[in-house]
Amino acid sequence: MNDKIQALRERFAARLAAAETPEQIEEVRVTFLGKKGPVADLMTELRGVDGAEKARLGQLINTVKAEFSAAVTAAAEALRKAAIDAQIRRARLYNPSLPTEPQRGSYHPITLIQREVESVFASMGFVIEDYPEVVDDYHCFEALNIPKHHPARDMQDTYYLDNGQLLKTHTSAAQNYIMKKYGAPLRAIFPGRCFRNEAIDACHENTFFQMEGIMIDEDISISNLIYFMKKMLSEVFRQDIRVRLRPGFFPFVEPGFELDISCLICGGEGCPSCKNSGWLELCPCGMIHPNVLRAGGIDTDKYTGFAFGLGLTRLAMMKYGVGDIRDFNGGQMKALAQFSGR
Ligand code: PHE
Repeated sequence: MNDKIQALRERFAARLAAAETPEQIEEVRVTFLGKKGPVADLMTELRGVDGAEKARLGQLINTVKAEFSAAVTAAAEALRKAAIDAQIRRARLYNPSLPTEPQRGSYHPITLIQREVESVFASMGFVIEDYPEVVDDYHCFEALNIPKHHPARDMQDTYYLDNGQLLKTHTSAAQNYIMKKYGAPLRAIFPGRCFRNEAIDACHENTFFQMEGIMIDEDISISNLIYFMKKMLSEVFRQDIRVRLRPGFFPFVEPGFELDISCLICGGEGCPSCKNSGWLELCPCGMIHPNVLRAGGIDTDKYTGFAFGLGLTRLAMMKYGVGDIRDFNGGQMKALAQFSGR
C-alpha cells in the first residue's frame, strides 16, 4: 500500500501541474478526492488491514488527503493571483501621485519609446535619419503633394517665422530630403519633434513627437506595410498586437489609411479608453503618392513604397499609461522620475 500511495502522489502532482484553468483544477480535485476516487479506494482497502499497521496507514492516508486538498487550494489561488497580475499589467501603470525620488535622473519617456522603436526598425535594415525642426514650405507641404491653398493645409495650422520658414508640422517634411539623399531602394525611419497650433488639453499639445518611416523598393505593397507595423508594435508592447486599416486621407499617400490597434487596456472588448470600440487609432499611413516619389527623384515606373507617421507621443501614452499629454512637456520632475530605471 505504501508504494501505491507514493505512485498516487506522483500521479496527482503531474495532473495538478498540467491543470491550467480553474475548471481543470476542480476536475483534479474531484478525480482524486471525490467519493469514487483513489483516496476513497484506499480507505476501503484499509478495512482489510489489521492492528497497528491499520492505524499507521490510516494516518498516512489522512495526510495524503490533506496534502492533496491543500495543493488544489494553492493551485487555484496561484491562478487567481496570476489573473489579477495580468489585469494589473494591462491596466494603467503611470500614477503621478505616487511618491518618487525626484533627485534621480532618468530618460524622458519619449526618448525611451523612440529608442525602442528605432532598435526594432534598425534590426530590419532601416536607417535612422534626422531632420531640422525649422523647415521650408516646399519640404513641409509642396513636395508632399500639398500645393498652396490646398485645404489639407488647414489640418496642420502651424507657426511661421518672419523669414517664411515654419516649424515642421509633421516628420513627413523630411521625406523629400531623404529620398534625394539615398535614392531607391530605401528603408528609413526619422523621428522628430513637430509643432502645430493646437488648443492644449489632456489629449492635444502644440509640441509632440512623431516617428516617420518609409520603405521604397520594387513591388512594395500594403502587405509589407502591415507586416512592418505589426512586427514593430508587437515588439514594443511585448504582446501580439492586432491591427486594422481604415481609409484615411493624406495628399501624400494613395491609398491612405488610419491604422488602428486592438485596445491595450481591455484587449479589444471595449472600455472607456477606446470609447467601447475595442480599437485605438495609432498611425496614419499609406502607399506613397507617385507625385511625392517623383518630387524625390524616384523612378515611379520601377518603384513603389509605403510611408507611416507614427505618433510617438501617443505610443508613449499607451505604453506607459499616461493619461494626460501635458505631463510630457510639463517639466514636472516628479512625474518624469517615475521612468527612472526603465
Ligand atoms: N504626416 C501625417 C500627419 O502628421 C501622417 C502620415 C505620415 C500619413 C505618413 C500618411 C503617411 O498627419
